[in-house]
Amino acid sequence: MNAAAHSSPDSGRFREPIRVGVLGAGRTRQGLGPFLARACEAAGGVVVAIAGREGGRSDTVACELAAQLGHPVAVAADAMALAAQVDALVVAAPPEGHLAGLDAALAAAVPCLCEKPLVPAEQAAAGRQRIDAFRTRGLLLVENCQWPFVLPTWARLWPERQGRPVRSLAMGLGPAWPGPTMVVDSLSHVLSVLQALVPLPPDVPLLDVSQSDAGPAAANNVVRFAVRGPAGRVDVSLHLTQCPAQPRPAWIDVDGARIDRQLGPNYDQSFVRPDGQGEPVEDPLHQLVYGFFTDLRAGTRDRTEAHADAVLLRLRLYADLLQQLGIRA
Ligand SMILES: NC(=O)c1ccc[n+]([C@@H]2O[C@H](COP(=O)([O-])OP(=O)(O)OC[C@H]3O[C@@H](n4cnc5c(N)ncnc54)[C@H](OP(=O)(O)O)[C@@H]3O)[C@@H](O)[C@H]2O)c1
Repeated sequence: MNAAAHSSPDSGRFREPIRVGVLGAGRTRQGLGPFLARACEAAGGVVVAIAGREGGRSDTVACELAAQLGHPVAVAADAMALAAQVDALVVAAPPEGHLAGLDAALAAAVPCLCEKPLVPAEQAAAGRQRIDAFRTRGLLLVENCQWPFVLPTWARLWPERQGRPVRSLAMGLGPAWPGPTMVVDSLSHVLSVLQALVPLPPDVPLLDVSQSDAGPAAANNVVRFAVRGPAGRVDVSLHLTQCPAQPRPAWIDVDGARIDRQLGPNYDQSFVRPDGQGEPVEDPLHQLVYGFFTDLRAGTRDRTEAHADAVLLRLRLYADLLQQLGIRA
């Protein structure tokens, strides 16, 4: 247990400001490390150190972050050394680096905010074991799936739809890369929104899994599946259109009630109905990170359990979907 936090990681009594380490803090492809670092500081944390896979590049990233954040950022030799010197670890590296981050957080007994997917599908068994380890030790583990934080906006924009059982969920996203990579990158998001809308039992089966274009270079693909929730069948579709740069499409449609993201200057986000009614949304990534810090500070076992349950189910559905689609992650 690191010295800055008090005796029990579940106690909710972290010394402020909470010291954060970011594994994979730069952006080589689509990484959100710099955004997550800023969100942590907005939530009252301080990013004291980072680590990457190569020291020289980590030095450069640390200098850039220090300039943005306005204070020094140290470089740790590796994930273990990073986790040992902080109160919370953010894992922003590519998925193949997540397991090392989870293991480092567990070794140091610090809570962890990990990018999606928690681990690549072929490491699902190891991922399940790590989720259990976080749960057993009362350590918070949150996966960075931010889109559920848009649902309160959906509810305000479609008040007449409140209280009705959900029959269908469609989501549209514009990932950077074509083909199966689009699906691997995006599935966690639609699963997290589904989980937020419909309480699902841990053993919920997947029904009628399909995709419209399994081609290696497909620029458009629609993944479909269904689940049976407490109020009956829910049909889910994920509509993917390759989109190398912003502004990328992002929309959510629940039972025909749709909202689309619009991006303004400085990445200001709002969501609008087809008839033009809309409202601004605080960056869902910031909302998620704020929630991570809120749960850390509260330190309640039920939130730790709730996150573990959600991440565990999402990992199972993620790996099962890819397997049924014949996609190797
Ligand atoms: N929640 C969202 O909406 C969202 C959006 C985009 C991405 N993501 C997720 O963010 C994660 C990273 O995205 P990406 O794959 O595109 O990342 P990336 O930009 O290729 O890399 C991000 C950072 O991680 C470093 N890195 C690479 N391999 C590493 C390793 N094994 N250990 C530690 N650091 C490593 C990179 O440094 P070097 O390359 O210089 O070594 C870079 O600084 C993925 O899990 C992705 O799914 C989430």
